[in-house]
Amino acid sequence: MDTRPIGIFDSGMGGLTCVRQMIRLLPGEDIVYFGDTGRVPYGGRSAETIVRYARQDVAFLRSFDLKTIVIACGTVSTTALDVLERENDLPILGVVQPAAKAAVNTTKSGKIGVIGTKATIRSGAYEASIRALLPEAQLIAKACPLLVPLVEDGRVHRGDAVTERVVEEYLAPVKTAGVDTLVLGCTHYPLLMDVISDYMGTGVTLIDTGEEAARAAAALLFEQSQLNDPSRKGRRRYYASDSAADFAATAALFLGKDISDRVERVAIENY
Ligand code: DGL
Repeated sequence: MDTRPIGIFDSGMGGLTCVRQMIRLLPGEDIVYFGDTGRVPYGGRSAETIVRYARQDVAFLRSFDLKTIVIACGTVSTTALDVLERENDLPILGVVQPAAKAAVNTTKSGKIGVIGTKATIRSGAYEASIRALLPEAQLIAKACPLLVPLVEDGRVHRGDAVTERVVEEYLAPVKTAGVDTLVLGCTHYPLLMDVISDYMGTGVTLIDTGEEAARAAAALLFEQSQLNDPSRKGRRRYYASDSAADFAATAALFLGKDISDRVERVAIENY
């Protein structure tokens, strides 16, 4: 047993889709979450900038004594995981491998779609991981840069004409390609699950990268006998680089509960 917390971070609110699953799977774990809301979105930035931001995010999280870090961000996982792993002496998990495994286990036709931010799609990391597991996979990847701002603004519900129109425009070629599995390669996208699955239809299975990363972290901690007693009530702390009140207001949408007494602001530029 290892009672140290698990660190989880994202460029903003999206990583909370991973936190939600982590709480469901591992209720006894303490979690420290950092969302870089002052600098979100990362997805349109250069690899150099994403690596610089990610180093600061990890440096902040490492001011706590953690047992592992989960990068609950497709953009950082696809662009900076190698660097972060090299520079840190604790296990760091990204979302790409777990999501690629889930996609390969799900697909029947071998036709798999991947959507993500510009940086994620530019990296080709999901495609490489899927091909390593299923060389004959037929892949179609599409960057969807407007989806993160829509989610950060809470525009996630069915019937939102703008969101539905944007989803339709991005996903039209993916739908035409006839995929049976779609990797939501950005941790913000599960919030758009209803709108995306309405458009793609029931024959397409959506892979939630945050959920798959939470499962992978649970499996790793179990293997290493580092899980807490599940009957214990895990303590969760949330940090944001912009307004704590704004973070708490949007977090309610992701977590389905009020966390306003547990959010603090952090000056990430000092790390
Ligand atoms: N949740 C992040 C991701 O998975 C959002 C990216 C962004 O900040 O642009 O890619």
